[in-house]
Parts: sequence; structure tokens; C-alpha cells
Amino acid sequence: MKVTMLGCGYVGLVSGACFAEFGANVTCFDVDKKKVDRLQDGEMLIYEPGLSDLVKKNVNQGRLSFTESLNTCIPDSDLIFVAVGTPTRRGDGHADLTYVYQAVQNIAPLLNGYTVIVDKSTVPVGTARNVKRVILETNPEADFDVASNPEFLREGAAISDLMRPDRVVIGIENKRAEEALRELYRPMSLIETPIFSTDLESAELIKYASNAFLATKISFINEISMLCDEVGADIHAVAKGMGMDSRIGEKFLRPGPGFGGSCFPKDTQALVRTAQEHGASSRIIETVIEVNEAQKARMIKKIREALGGKESGKTLAVLGLTFKPETDDMREAPSLAILPKLIENGCYINAHDPKGVGEAKALLPNSIKYFDDIYITMENADAVVLMTEWDVYCNLDMEVVKQKLNTPIFIDLRNIYEPETMNLLGFEYSCIGR
Ligand SMILES: NC(=O)c1ccc[n+]([C@@H]2O[C@H](COP(=O)([O-])OP(=O)(O)OC[C@H]3O[C@@H](n4cnc5c(N)ncnc54)[C@H](O)[C@@H]3O)[C@@H](O)[C@H]2O)c1
Repeated sequence: MKVTMLGCGYVGLVSGACFAEFGANVTCFDVDKKKVDRLQDGEMLIYEPGLSDLVKKNVNQGRLSFTESLNTCIPDSDLIFVAVGTPTRRGDGHADLTYVYQAVQNIAPLLNGYTVIVDKSTVPVGTARNVKRVILETNPEADFDVASNPEFLREGAAISDLMRPDRVVIGIENKRAEEALRELYRPMSLIETPIFSTDLESAELIKYASNAFLATKISFINEISMLCDEVGADIHAVAKGMGMDSRIGEKFLRPGPGFGGSCFPKDTQALVRTAQEHGASSRIIETVIEVNEAQKARMIKKIREALGGKESGKTLAVLGLTFKPETDDMREAPSLAILPKLIENGCYINAHDPKGVGEAKALLPNSIKYFDDIYITMENADAVVLMTEWDVYCNLDMEVVKQKLNTPIFIDLRNIYEPETMNLLGFEYSCIGR
């Protein structure tokens, strides 16, 4: 099958490489010519484990290529995936669909022969039908269908999520489009992945409802962790005991500094806006967003308390800046809310992150000092703040940590270490809900 991927970001690039691995002939297009040039030169634009090798392999085997020209790929395509960004629209929280409609307008005049145009971007209910309208306005003769195929990958585990997902959701209007998508995903039938087909609107809503539900689990456990702090319960025991109930499940029940990333914050907001537009209630999701903001603010209070009630003049060694490990993505990372506030309150920040520093420098205050070595980050600092649970922070040499710090204060916002062990090692250790 001939596939064109519109957008070479996290989703476009990873899904393009995975579809090529399934055997499709994939061309990835991006409006950003610099990105295309770099990809053509064999450079990876993002950090995602395994991606570089997968891209190289499929480029070498002739199934994956990158282009700046729609004329060369669109007319031959059986399937065209829209994988462009849908960020929050400034001012109102809606998903900004500018890039989606631009992408669709660009391809409409070039369609040739039967083509399925598939929304892989996360788009509000009704977008697929609007995409259809836009194409028909530009090219009334075009032989095409629209489909929705929302993406559920997690950054940091994107390739396995794409190659071995829990399910593939496809929203279609007719059998012809369904067959084209089922053909693309055929290798997945070998590993018995359920391919769930439904109508366009339901597929679009499945994506938002799933993200909102996962965000709800996170905000829920964060709120319960606050109660644990007050009553002396252990959030890990509570989460484990809850998760053993198969109706609840153990995943996404780990407390932290609040959810971030390129999806949950914007998708929860967009779902609230969609509900409001249709006069439907969205009280749970609105509260989830509020609880998440409060959780980030609570982390500042926690850090202040760990520092003896005053953070002004203190130097903090911050480990981890990205919203989660194994990605360089800084979008909506809790560090972006927490660190500027600490600096405003008079803190000095030394920071380390295995992959996120390049992005972080553009988004965080200039006063932050960045270090390549974890332990040098801690030299003469008054406390460590573990912000993101990268593997390299999970087995620190605590003797060296103590030597480097002015005061042995360790604030673990990811609950990596055991409170008892840390106290025995001589740290004043604080974490969340334990
Ligand atoms: N990142 C994730 O973890 C993730 C997971 C699931 C779903 N999604 C959804 O997938 C979509 C893409 O997300 P992303 O993280 O890959 O975004 P991204 O910002 O990393 O990449 C988007 C790319 O689209 C390109 N682009 C913009 N307009 C274009 C056009 N008209 N034609 C071609 N390319 C164009 C941009 O230059 C950019 O390279 C979003 O809707 C997002 O919500 C993201």
C-alpha cells in the first residue's frame, strides 16, 4: 500500500516508520522544510528509543522516504494520514485545527484515484466530516473517504505502543474505507490485536474520553496522596490495594507532580470546550484540570517545607525536566510551572536532564544553570529535587549525593526511593503521600 504521512512530528514520524515496518510504502511530508532536510540527511528530530534504527532500516530497504513535495506522493497514495499538531487554541482552550485544515486544503487538489484521508491527529468530534466538506469544496470530483484513526502511543514507548497496541480504533463511514485501513493494519492480526471499527464521531470521542479518563486516574491518586500525607497512610499501599481490583487496574495510580506532556493538558481542555459547545456537562474533567494545577502548586509548598519553611536564597539541584522519562518533549512539563515559581521566590536552580536540556533552555528562565553530570549538578546545592524518574536517577550513589550537597535534603517528587532507607542514610527525605 502507498501511504503518505502529513506531519513528521512525534506521531507522524513514529507511525510512518512503523507502517513501513509493516510493509507499506510510506512517504512522510512536513511543511517545515528544515525538518525534511534533516530527516533526508538521516538525522532524528526527536528522541524516542529505537526510532533512529527503525527509520534507518526502513529507509535503507526503500519503504520509507521524506519529501518536501506533495505533488510526488499524494496522487499515488491509497491512504493519507493527517498527523499534524492540534495544540490548544490561544485564549479559549479549543483544539486549534488550523494545521489540520491547511494540510487537507493542500492535498485536496492533488487527489487522484480512490484515497482514504485519515485523521490520526487528535481532533474534536465532527472534524472528519468537516475535513470531507473542505475537500469536496476544493475538489468536488475527488474519489475519497474520510476516516478517523486516533493514536494512543505514549512517548518513550511509542514504537512498542504502535507495533503492539492494546487496540486499534478506526472510525469509518463505509466498508471500502474500513477495508483499506484493515489491510494496512493486517500484520497486527498476527498478534491478535483487536481492530475496533465504529462511526467517525465515536472514534474521535474515544481518543478524548480515553485521555480524560487516564488524566482522571492521575488527578485522583494525586488527591488521595494528599490525604495520605495528612493521615499517615502510604499511597503506594493504597494504590496497590486499589489496583488489585481488576475493575480499577493498577496503571496510572502513581502520584507525582501533576500530569503534563503534549496530550493530557490540551486534550482535557479541548474536551471541556466540546462539551460546553454542545451543552453537555464536563464537571469531572474540569475538576481533573483544577486538581492538576493544584498539584503543581502543592509541589512548591512541599519543597518550601522540606527547606525548613523558606526557599529564598537556596540552591536546588533539579533532576529531570521533561514531563516523563525517555523523551525530550518538554510540552506542559510540570517543571515549566514549578521552576519559574521557585526562581520567583528566590531559589537558584542547577538542572540536569538526559535529553531535555535543549528544549528546556528555550522554555525556562535564563538564570537556570545546566550540567551534564548528575553529581556536579548537586555540588553546593541545598537540596535535590527529583522531578522526572529517568532510570539514571533511580540508583544514585547516596554517599556521593550527601558529599556534594550542603545539606542532605532530598525531595523526591516521583517516589523513587524508600523513605526508611533514605532516613537511615541520613537524608531529610520528603516524597508524595508516604
Ligand atoms: N505526541 C504524542 O504523544 C501524541 C500521542 C497521541 C496523539 N497525538 C496527537 O497527534 C497529533 C500530532 O502530535 P505530535 O506530538 O506528533 O505533534 P508535533 O508538533 O510533534 O508534530 C506536528 C508536525 O506537523 C507539521 N505540520 C504542521 N502543519 C503541517 C501541514 N499542513 N502539513 C504537513 N505537516 C505539517 C509540523 O511541522 C510538525 O512537524 C496531535 O493531534 C496530537 O494531539 C500525540
